Amino acid sequence: MNILLLGSGGREHALAWKLAQSRLLRNGAGRLYASPGNPGIAAHADLVALDLSDHAAVAAFCESHAIGLVVIGPEAPLVDGLADSLREAGTPVFGPSRAAARLEGSKGYTKDLCERAGIPTAGYVRTRSLEEANAALERFAAPYVLKADGLAAGKGVVIAENRAEAGEALADMFGGRFGAAGAEVVIEEFMEGEEASFFALTDGATIVPFGSAQDHKRVGEGDTGPNTGGMGAYSPAPVLTPLLEGEVLERIIAPTVRTMADEGTPYSGVLYAGLMLTAQGPKLIEYNCRFGDPECQVLMMRLDCDLGELLLACAENRLSTCQPPRFSDDAALTVVMAAQGYPDTPKKGGRIEALDAAEATGARVFHAGTALDAAGALASSGGRVLNVTARGASVTEAQAAAYRAVDLIDFPDGFCRRDIGWREVAREKEQG
Ligand code: AMP
Ligand code: GLY
Repeated sequence: MNILLLGSGGREHALAWKLAQSRLLRNGAGRLYASPGNPGIAAHADLVALDLSDHAAVAAFCESHAIGLVVIGPEAPLVDGLADSLREAGTPVFGPSRAAARLEGSKGYTKDLCERAGIPTAGYVRTRSLEEANAALERFAAPYVLKADGLAAGKGVVIAENRAEAGEALADMFGGRFGAAGAEVVIEEFMEGEEASFFALTDGATIVPFGSAQDHKRVGEGDTGPNTGGMGAYSPAPVLTPLLEGEVLERIIAPTVRTMADEGTPYSGVLYAGLMLTAQGPKLIEYNCRFGDPECQVLMMRLDCDLGELLLACAENRLSTCQPPRFSDDAALTVVMAAQGYPDTPKKGGRIEALDAAEATGARVFHAGTALDAAGALASSGGRVLNVTARGASVTEAQAAAYRAVDLIDFPDGFCRRDIGWREVAREKEQG
């Protein structure tokens, strides 16, 4: 059987690395194709150029290349209904339908679903005009949480310290700053607590926990400066104790999956829950309909079973027949090396060398934004460029191993945070 993996980031490189080890592909059992892929993914897959917005063309490729599973990495093609088109054409797909991907594609949809299903989350109001939004602010206290309803590449959330700032942000959103994604704005109650991410695989009926992680969204050390797609992550997130994980499954994940199935829009794929661990227990911040990037890299680093089998079982609605996923007890930590200027104006084309030396330490370097230049040399091509990922018996050890590898990489136009995992490293120190 052949597999087609869609996407081009560090998340997809980690998935490609793990899929290539699957029984479904090993020893010539099948081929892995990736589109568009990147130079790191090319070590595990044949790269093909496909226009993901042309569903018929992707379906035709699946037909002509005997694709038995399509794995869709990023959210945009899911929200755009690519999974529906491929399933209609008869190809099993790992990833939710357009209707189910609204869990990420519309914050208002998710809040309403939480209300219908009694899922703990922040109180909210959906607003459709600036006047309506300004009036609704009356019902909240500072800090004000304002969210563009649609996909905004992780930039659609503003936390405003006071009314004036909130008013400005709302004017911006309704003024078209996020295009159609800001035609509706959700205003939420501010929740206090520590954030953690929890992952579950589901085929719409069966749910299996798939690990936890914490990430660092701010560009600067000490979690300061502008928000990014994530500067690093580690797994597991020990703050999410087995007790809390049970609560998340029972009170958040299970009612979501059940309600979506009951309403005729079953969710199939990975559910990525962004959680706030509040004094009243875990509450849902948001859902994503795909793996986190770079959270996926640390999950794959710890996964000790066959990823291909799991994703295929999910796609074929037979997750209940699978052995539950196994993860190493080790911690994994990934450091994002970004291009100078990220997140605003990352410098492209910076040369990158000595990745072999870094990997010789046992770390894995996943490519996130790389390309080959005219001379065939590796260069940066995006904001987040490399994900240097290592395992260790504790987060402290995984952190040390990751930075050992980082320090061997020659990427003069790159930078990284030196404190990925600091919260957990401090806790481990405290606990001796
Ligand atoms: P989201 O894109 O919905 O995950 O929001 C981005 C970030 O904004 C989250 O990771 C939180 O740090 C913060 N955030 C979102 N919603 C809330 C909330 N209701 N209360 C406090 N912080 C929030
Ligand atoms: N790292 C955050 C995300 O993938 O949404």
